Amino acid sequence: MPEGHVYVTRPMSPKVMQQAGELPIPLTVHADPDLPPAREQLLEDCRGATAIITMLTEKIDDKVMEAAGPGLKVIANVAVGYDNIDVEAAARRGIIVTNTPGVLDEATADLAFALILATVRRVAEADRFIRTARPWIWGPQSFIGLDVSAGATLGIVGLGRTGMAVARRANAFRMNIIATGSRASTPEAAELGVQPCNLDTLLRTSDVVSLHCPLTATNRHLIGAQQLAAMKAGSYLINTARGPLVDEEALADAVESGHLAGAGLDVHEFEPRVNNRLRSLENVVLLPHIGSAAAATRDSMGELAVRNVAAVLSGQAALTPVLPAGLKPDLLPTRG
Ligand code: GLV
Ligand code: GLV
Repeated sequence: MPEGHVYVTRPMSPKVMQQAGELPIPLTVHADPDLPPAREQLLEDCRGATAIITMLTEKIDDKVMEAAGPGLKVIANVAVGYDNIDVEAAARRGIIVTNTPGVLDEATADLAFALILATVRRVAEADRFIRTARPWIWGPQSFIGLDVSAGATLGIVGLGRTGMAVARRANAFRMNIIATGSRASTPEAAELGVQPCNLDTLLRTSDVVSLHCPLTATNRHLIGAQQLAAMKAGSYLINTARGPLVDEEALADAVESGHLAGAGLDVHEFEPRVNNRLRSLENVVLLPHIGSAAAATRDSMGELAVRNVAAVLSGQAALTPVLPAGLKPDLLPTRG
């Protein structure tokens, strides 16, 4: 590997790769667009790198930073979440870490809403049914789901940028909206009809609970057996944030017992492994982490990562650095 290269862990769109190609030092790019570099390969390929542009599939810990060597200046994550990066280790080493906030809020909120509607109106299940080619006819009691508009309550856990974009959609659907997080008490939230509350109240009151907080060192299994039991009977859980926020075995129990009417997951506790019990449940909708997978959004995420690297390489401040302390407190959900 050349000294002083920008290592890109997965090839992105031609447009983004061209922008990356205009950086002042050479690029080395992991060739396979479908699979991330294996751990050993990653350690080998990042040697001598000045910058690493990484995806959320790569665990960038102290060992990777050590392998890259003392020339490593910046790690640019092509994601808003950065739980794949050891931010403290980077801070200790004086390495800047950046993420891509802001540019994917709308796309992620679109997907969250698609998942809400698909789950409560049984879209995926109905599609699977049609594909069996069994004879069917419209039925007064067939495929009954939840009335979303005017009446259902959506609970947004961790109202930040993405949650606010989800609230705008829910407001247009005339849902009741309740939320945790300090932004739930802002004028912007009030204008969307958001009522602030704590997690306990949110769980007890919502017909649909949707998670929008980052994964931190302290909120793994934020939604476990106890929280699921506190949820309203016949309600739904939606997760487009990070898989480990939810205890999947406890979720499978709650859906199998009929306490929850269903669940929709875009993210998984042990990604890319999918829970086999959840996979076998008709009323669980499962997606392969596609929240930000829209063309212009992905280009904007890649471009922001490249601009962050360009800024640091030219001695300027990064555009969207991640705070070494970890998290912006306003994204943290309030525990009930
Ligand atoms: C996607 O999961 C992201 O954090 O951007
Ligand atoms: C449904 O298709 C209806 O016409 O009510």
